Amino acid sequence: MDAIVIEGARPLRGGVAVSPAKNAVLPVMAAALLAAGTSRVRRIPRLADVRTLARLLEHLGARVSFDNGSLVVDATDVGGREAPYDLVKTMRASVLVLGPLVARFGRARVSLPGGCAIGARPINLHLAGLEALGARVRLDHGYVEVAADRLRGGRVVFDQPTVTGTENLLMAATLAEGRTVIENAAREPEVVDLAGCLASMGARIAGAGSSVIEVDGVDRLAPYDHQPIPDRIEAATLMTAVALCGGEVRLDGVRLDHLDAVVEKLRRAGADVADEGGGAVRVRGAPPADSVDVITGPYPAFPTDMQAQFMALMACGRGLSVITEKIFENRYMHVAELQRMGADITVEGATAVVRGVPRLSGARVMATDLRASAALVLAGLVATGTTVVSRVYHLDRGYEALDRKLASLGARIERIRE
Ligand code: EPU
Repeated sequence: MDAIVIEGARPLRGGVAVSPAKNAVLPVMAAALLAAGTSRVRRIPRLADVRTLARLLEHLGARVSFDNGSLVVDATDVGGREAPYDLVKTMRASVLVLGPLVARFGRARVSLPGGCAIGARPINLHLAGLEALGARVRLDHGYVEVAADRLRGGRVVFDQPTVTGTENLLMAATLAEGRTVIENAAREPEVVDLAGCLASMGARIAGAGSSVIEVDGVDRLAPYDHQPIPDRIEAATLMTAVALCGGEVRLDGVRLDHLDAVVEKLRRAGADVADEGGGAVRVRGAPPADSVDVITGPYPAFPTDMQAQFMALMACGRGLSVITEKIFENRYMHVAELQRMGADITVEGATAVVRGVPRLSGARVMATDLRASAALVLAGLVATGTTVVSRVYHLDRGYEALDRKLASLGARIERIRE
């Protein structure tokens, strides 16, 4: 298994480009199932989650290949209808094949994802939405079976905004008969990106990016050629690294308009974030950061996918920060590892109280999920001495070459095989 070794306490300087967003790429890949023919995702990031979903598409009968930086999916001969346990358990986003399979073929069987490291994360809202479009849902030996001769448009009101739930429904509704209205829809930029991709396939969608989305079903969709949006979480992780370590970094390929909540907090923490135009952003860090409070929430609020990394910043802050996690009930597994590096953090329910300390000290720590891994890498970058982060496969699920990008900014970071 790979581990990352970091010699910390060095500023970051230079420039790097941000990769396309994992959470935009995955739904777009699933959307290829909606149409016979060959779809193309441009500039596909090299991520373990992309490989897992590619394996699932192949398992369903699609032909998948990598061509000159693009991912090419030929979904003409999709014959399978089942997402097996082995693939769903390694990646919850496998559930995104549910909507497209039912919409195009009238049937899907997907393993229930079960618990995951950051919380229970059920899919009841995905299923209630599909039922509202006339699908029959049945649970059978740990699998959920969804069937419908043809989905009918309907009105779906989500109890709470769900990102992949909105994406599943959106994909299902594109081929349903009549109009679907999704209320309390997720407003994340990745939902808007998927809607744009579906529209390029011939889907009729209005309101993506707002909390009410309307879809007028069509009989058939065409394959797509799509370039997904840049990864706002990768950009925010790199910005937070600069705020933590100091130095000056230029990031290219950033959609700053997707990052309002994070940039506002980084500025209040004392970082200088300047829009240079054309997707370039210059970040200057002046540690120690001022302590600020954060509450995670659905977009456009502060993203839960940045909570762990921001906690690493606040662990070295000047004062006391209260961080409240409102999306996932168990997303504090990085806390015990940060404590091993000397952080002063107390967790009570959904709230973490972080008292900044003058320095963290390098230690052996273990990654438990994707964003927790990133937080530990950030802590290692600022800590004195050597930090070894093990179980790096979590990081590789969703960050493209984060270690190499940080090394190019002057961090002393390398990957070893343990
Ligand atoms: N929820 C339900 N029932 C459902 C669906 C969701 O109760 O049927 C609850 C969840 O348990 C959670 C809340 O609703 O409390 C919101 O969850 P959501 O469905 O929005 O999360 P998701 O779609 O499973 C996506 C991202 C996550 C990100 C969350 C929140 C993808 C592939 N995954 O997950 O990304 O944290 O939205 O923004 O888009 C990550 O990249 O590290 C990651 C975990």
